[in-house]
Amino acid sequence: MRRLVAGDVTLEPQTAAHAEAMFTVLSDPAIYAYENAPPPSLEWLRERFRKLETRQSGDGRERWLNWVIRIPTAELAGYVQATVRANGTAAIAYELASAYWGRGLATQAMHAMIEELAANYGVRTLFAVARRANVRSIRLLERIGFSPAAPDPRQNQSLEPGEVLMSRRLERS
Ligand SMILES: CC(C)(COP(=O)(O)OP(=O)(O)OC[C@H]1O[C@@H](n2cnc3c(N)ncnc32)[C@H](O)[C@@H]1OP(=O)(O)O)[C@@H](O)C(=O)NCCC(=O)NCCS
Repeated sequence: MRRLVAGDVTLEPQTAAHAEAMFTVLSDPAIYAYENAPPPSLEWLRERFRKLETRQSGDGRERWLNWVIRIPTAELAGYVQATVRANGTAAIAYELASAYWGRGLATQAMHAMIEELAANYGVRTLFAVARRANVRSIRLLERIGFSPAAPDPRQNQSLEPGEVLMSRRLERS
């Protein structure tokens, strides 16, 4: 994995060494207004980051790519992630602490990650699952070229009530 630089954000490959700073970032309750929950402890998060640092699932079928987002003041603002499969698809996700919302940082970080996924990981189709009520997340996805898609059971895509699947096809680079 490479460090990526784009506009105001630098994406650093996430390691266990980021856990302490990211624990503060990810403890913001605003992140979890629609789903998920904050990390229960720093040690839990460090262990999770250690596991993600293997960069792949136990069976080797998925590549796990996680980058933390660093901004010019040297703070960490959040992360972006992609789960890449051999069939050229990737499921993406993102979380920023609310102090960093409204500045276009997630948009810049997603553009940088997507360019990297297309250029160096053979990704041709991106997927994201969002809660319909999570308007910021849907707006972000639309801004970077995603549109609603039908779930494909062959790709283990199933939705819970209130969720929408969004996708984007990438041009060959
Ligand atoms: C989803 C999430 C990342 C969106 O963050 P965001 O800051 O709204 O997204 P962006 O970085 O695209 O910023 C867009 C905002 O910045 C503004 N902006 C400023 N400069 C901009 C630029 N150069 N480019 C784009 N937007 C810019 C936009 O006008 C918009 O502001 P608005 O919301 O007041 O209209 C954030 O809400 C979040 O982390 N939520 C919690 C986690 C979550 O729900 N994750 C999704 C499930 S995986």
